[in-house]
Amino acid sequence: MALLIKGGEIVTASSRYVADILCEGETISRIDIDISPPARGEVIDAAGKFVFPGFIDPHTHIYLPFMGTFSKDTYETGTKAALIGGTTTIFDMCCPGRSEEPMDGFQTWRAQSEGRAACDYSFHMGVTKFDESSAAQLREIVKAGIQSFKIFLAYKGALGIDDAELFQALSLAKELGVVTTAHCENETLVSELQRALLAAGRTDTAAHHDSRPPRVEAEGVHHLLTFAEMIGAAVYIVHLSCREALEEALAARLRGVNVSIETVVQYLTLDKTYAELPDFEGAKYVMSPPLRDKKHQPILWNALAQGLINTVGTDHAPFDFKTQKTMGRDDFTKIPNGIPAIEDRVNLLYTHGVLTGKIDLSTFVKIASTNAAKIFNLYPRKGTIQPGADADLVIFDPEYEGILSAKTHHMNIDYNAFEGWKIHGRPSLVTLRGEVAVRDGQFVGTPGRGQFLQRKTGTPKA
Ligand code: URP
Ligand code: ZN
Ligand code: ZN
Repeated sequence: MALLIKGGEIVTASSRYVADILCEGETISRIDIDISPPARGEVIDAAGKFVFPGFIDPHTHIYLPFMGTFSKDTYETGTKAALIGGTTTIFDMCCPGRSEEPMDGFQTWRAQSEGRAACDYSFHMGVTKFDESSAAQLREIVKAGIQSFKIFLAYKGALGIDDAELFQALSLAKELGVVTTAHCENETLVSELQRALLAAGRTDTAAHHDSRPPRVEAEGVHHLLTFAEMIGAAVYIVHLSCREALEEALAARLRGVNVSIETVVQYLTLDKTYAELPDFEGAKYVMSPPLRDKKHQPILWNALAQGLINTVGTDHAPFDFKTQKTMGRDDFTKIPNGIPAIEDRVNLLYTHGVLTGKIDLSTFVKIASTNAAKIFNLYPRKGTIQPGADADLVIFDPEYEGILSAKTHHMNIDYNAFEGWKIHGRPSLVTLRGEVAVRDGQFVGTPGRGQFLQRKTGTPKA
């Protein structure tokens, strides 16, 4: 069935104009002024609304065995919530443990998502150990359509790799034309600071951020980029949170390192006082790197506006307050790390970024969609609006006013980190490859229709 989207203001990374969009099959077939309605199909009135390309979340953990438990969303729940929030493609982190084989991990994540995901998806393939056998398996995984690895310089003994493994993983990535995404914190500093804080009787939620100050993250960034520079590998820093880490990344970029930078919406909107809330409420706001002092926020927003930070993701990692965060009630190091946001990212960026004048509409589209499509080799199939592209469209109602709440959200999690926050504007209709998936905040699409997106190798810049 065809879809004709009439009279909306189309906004891409590089253009803004009013026109009609005809979608036939799964792709956009025509963009023009005053297209006649198709013989068979639906006409959607988009007058007074923006039409954005489907948004892309470059960093999620829908399925994640972590810190003795599992993240709460499933591919059914997490991807419906993503669509409702305007996100039509996600990159989930495939994170096998160090005792698992990479291919087993890849197949586990594929089995979890296949036939269950409602939006399209790919994986960043976790390299949580490196030896000859895992290298051979990683080559096969890349052939199966993966163009990005994920490494952790944190989480000692769990997901983190040592320096020899880092060198070898980046060397393989360079050889294969794969971009390596990296969690950058110095794991030794973290574990020593944790030990010292616990020894001093600090068990509280605020001790989490005291154990991971900005310099710990900056050292991780510096460390990664020294290796990337020596090897000539393309890298992508995930969830960058502070000035110190940004300065290290920009210094390396000036030296010629191919480094892209992601921040997440939580660092742009929440600060460390949330993690200091009494009665263990702060546990809802424990993630790594931790929420920072508010003074870092204008620096991150400015870096987005100037194109220095390339993408905004969520690092969506939902752990229930009542049954999972409580694992760390007497010891902050046992609080499962993560703050859910997959459903709210786009709306928060629009309300707190666009409407406050911190970023313009074209930057909004770039950081929430186009740049991720480019860096991770999905462009122009995803990330823009043009004939031949997938018909992933977000009809966005700028007049909508609403309130974020766990009572009404669709993520499978018993709290919302932005409980009671007002939003202004939201997706009123979302299409995924030519099918209407969301109307007025409710999922109306086909469950399990999400596709695994095969990606070619090569490491373009945004
Ligand atoms: O706190 C976080 N970020 N949790 C998810 C795992 C990770 O480090 O990305
Ligand atoms: Zn991380
Ligand atoms: Zn993550």
